[in-house]
Amino acid sequence: MMNDDLKRQAAAMALTQVQPGMRLGLGTGSTAKIFVDLLGEKVAAGFDCICVPTSEFTGRQAASLGIKLSDLETLDRLDLTVDGADEIDPGLNLIKGAGGALLREKIVAASSDAMVVIADGSKLVETLGKFPLPIEVNRFGLGATQRSISDILTKHGAQGGLKLRQTPAGETFVTDGGHFILDASFGRISRPEALSRDLLDVAGVVQHGLFLKMCKTAYVATPDGVRTLSA
Ligand code: A5P
Repeated sequence: MMNDDLKRQAAAMALTQVQPGMRLGLGTGSTAKIFVDLLGEKVAAGFDCICVPTSEFTGRQAASLGIKLSDLETLDRLDLTVDGADEIDPGLNLIKGAGGALLREKIVAASSDAMVVIADGSKLVETLGKFPLPIEVNRFGLGATQRSISDILTKHGAQGGLKLRQTPAGETFVTDGGHFILDASFGRISRPEALSRDLLDVAGVVQHGLFLKMCKTAYVATPDGVRTLSA
């Protein structure tokens, strides 16, 4: 089965959780994009909801489908956020940020009563860290921030290094918030809470892609069907 079919199945499952009048957070990435497409079909058929997007890309997509958009100034809480993930551990702790939207994704998820993750089975891992951890950093003082983060990699036994994210055209990738991303190859993150605290202690770190204890439900599509995982 094509990967996109699996993503679609997971997204369709999340759509069953969406009730009329809900305030929704819309994730970013290829799986979230499919969810937004499906939500758009529902909205075109008369369904009412109001959404806060986690990226400029998702905002444009949703607007083009006629989905009503708002922000976290107007809405102080959201009912549900549906988003993808790069890695999902058995406790539903996540690595996110391959698409570069981790800061807004985390703000939106933290403002939501529930976060549902949609993914195909390739995202399931026993221990987080094989996927490089995206770390969003301020442009100012990049060298100093990089050195501090390198020390943290050493402290946490990282098996790889730190890379400043580039666009496919070879330019430095810039997030919607105007920041850079450093991708940190740990190989294995054995103490995610401690790592999270260490990273957030670095003055130049804006946010990182570890989403710990934020997600209570994941719909993971495999060729044998969609599994519902709970934390
Ligand atoms: C975006 O910044 C990411 O957090 C995505 O949600 C994550 O990378 C999953 O993307 P895919 O659904 O494209 O795998």
